[in-house]
Amino acid sequence: MSTTHRIALIPGDGIGQEVIPPATAVLDAVGRRHGISFAYDEFDWSCERHAHEGAMMPADGLDRIRTHDAILLGAVGWPGVPDHVSLWGLLIPIRRAFAQYVNLRPIAVLEGVPSPLSGARPGEVDFVVVRENAEGEYSEIGGRMNRGLPSELAVQEAVFTRAGVARIADYAFTLAESRRKHVTSATKSNGIVHTMPFWDEVVGERAAAHPGVELRSEHIDALAAKLVLQPQNFDVIVASNLFGDILSDLAAAVAGSIGIAPSGNLNPEREFPSMFEPVHGSAPDIAGKDLANPLGAIWSASMLLDHLGHPEAGAEVLDAVRAQLAEGRVRTRDMGGTAGTAEFTRALLERL
Ligand code: NAI
Ligand code: MG
Repeated sequence: MSTTHRIALIPGDGIGQEVIPPATAVLDAVGRRHGISFAYDEFDWSCERHAHEGAMMPADGLDRIRTHDAILLGAVGWPGVPDHVSLWGLLIPIRRAFAQYVNLRPIAVLEGVPSPLSGARPGEVDFVVVRENAEGEYSEIGGRMNRGLPSELAVQEAVFTRAGVARIADYAFTLAESRRKHVTSATKSNGIVHTMPFWDEVVGERAAAHPGVELRSEHIDALAAKLVLQPQNFDVIVASNLFGDILSDLAAAVAGSIGIAPSGNLNPEREFPSMFEPVHGSAPDIAGKDLANPLGAIWSASMLLDHLGHPEAGAEVLDAVRAQLAEGRVRTRDMGGTAGTAEFTRALLERL
């Protein structure tokens, strides 16, 4: 029996537009073998749209994608539109309105992708950053006063709720149960005296409900250093919105290239569509030159397959990616090769 999934595509800006076609080509190719087909609706929501229409997406944008099975996004952001406008005009409204409170970022050192760390060997470094994606430091509460005066000030409140911390911790512990049963919680309860001790308390309470998993809390500064020095020691890292954002870019660099790092913005209850996107941005420096590594988007598409209930198809995509990188013949420039986006994608499709 064949299944059709409705996917909302938001290529966005810059290389976002170059990496989404490879990702859908991979979905179509692997889908054919598994009796899965995809119906895509493409949306031009972007900084380019902002320049013409004054908004990243239409006023009813969220309603137009609310009933899709999943969202695949390239990247948004372009010089001329401030980054906080593009982020808060598109990505953050989607994450919040669709309760995508888990941002899942798997990190692995793959054979054929040189890590800048000599100690990070393929097969040994394999962990997941579980970033809280709906509250924390990314809050709209606060304001600015006395603009332009010597007394000018800005206040931004971090918001941590018991429900919000408990659900992200539960997600991390449950994930660890299916992996190596180890959770590291990123904290800073020495310096941040209200929210971080509260985070530690709630994470600790949830740990008690998952007795098979070992929990270790680490201050974010020391944790950042350990991620560089001993990346092989991590299994699942759970972190607040800001800490998780920073750690996962650091971790992507440890894995060799930001160009391959994937992410899923998940609504675990499946009341709303989840959104899959490469970790990288729109890369204005290489946009339009056929230089973008499409693997971040392709790996994100593999996560989309997992989420929609096709883990064997998702694994097939990753196996093909691993094989192609290990062989080392066709690689993009960010990984030390000479292939362009199109050539790399063609080779991967042949393999699939
Ligand atoms: P970026 O990720 O776009 O680029 C950082 C560096 O990595 C650049 O040198 C770029 O050429 C390289 N790079 C990134 N992806 C690559 C790929 N697939 N293949 C090869 N090289 C790659 O980050 P940057 O420069 O800080 O941001 C550029 C714009 O993207 C900004 O407007 C920013 O706000 C936006 N952005 C959007 C994100 C999103 O849509 N989720 C995430 C990060 C940034
Ligand atoms: Mg980031």
